[in-house]
Amino acid sequence: MEGLKIRQFSAADAAAVRRITARSPEAADWAPEQLGELPAWVAENASGAVGFVVARTVADEMEILNLAVEPEARRQGVGSALLAVAFEHGRQEGAARVFLEVRESNGAARRFYERHGFEVIGRRTRYYRHPDEDAVLLGRRFPRSE
Ligand SMILES: CC(C)(COP(=O)(O)OP(=O)(O)OC[C@H]1O[C@@H](n2cnc3c(N)ncnc32)[C@H](O)[C@@H]1OP(=O)(O)O)[C@@H](O)C(=O)NCCC(=O)NCCS
Repeated sequence: MEGLKIRQFSAADAAAVRRITARSPEAADWAPEQLGELPAWVAENASGAVGFVVARTVADEMEILNLAVEPEARRQGVGSALLAVAFEHGRQEGAARVFLEVRESNGAARRFYERHGFEVIGRRTRYYRHPDEDAVLLGRRFPRSE
């Protein structure tokens, strides 16, 4: 996407993150206030914030906790650009592996992560509510560079 900029999340992005989350029922349903001290980034174009990612690294494992892009801005590389910045941060923190959970029925996200080298590494039975659904656990060894 032309003019796309990825920058760190700030409190001023709360309304945009709330809007994107409301329009992305497949994403984790978090209030921006819950982001707290977690590392988070926002993707912004000329019309404002169009996506965000939240990731944390504990020891040598990074977890992608949430990632969502405005429906109109999808399939234009925004999700990939956000993931690349989260990977870069994890690399600096010494991550050796990265993992995340996704609803079993979330075909778009599963294909997105597959495209980025993730494989199915497990399943969490009835992990999600409203509606009840299994989580598929996806993971990959940490990319050296992308
Ligand atoms: C998953 C998500 C973040 C992807 O963001 P995006 O900006 O559309 O991703 P990109 O444009 O970087 O997509 C890169 C590749 O991922 C795959 N992909 C993404 N969306 C896809 C879809 N709907 N169907 C098939 N493949 C898809 C494709 O391979 C795509 O490349 P292509 O467009 O050249 O075919 C976005 O669909 C989204 O916000 N979904 C709702 C929230 C969600 O499910 N979050 C994940 C929860 S863990």
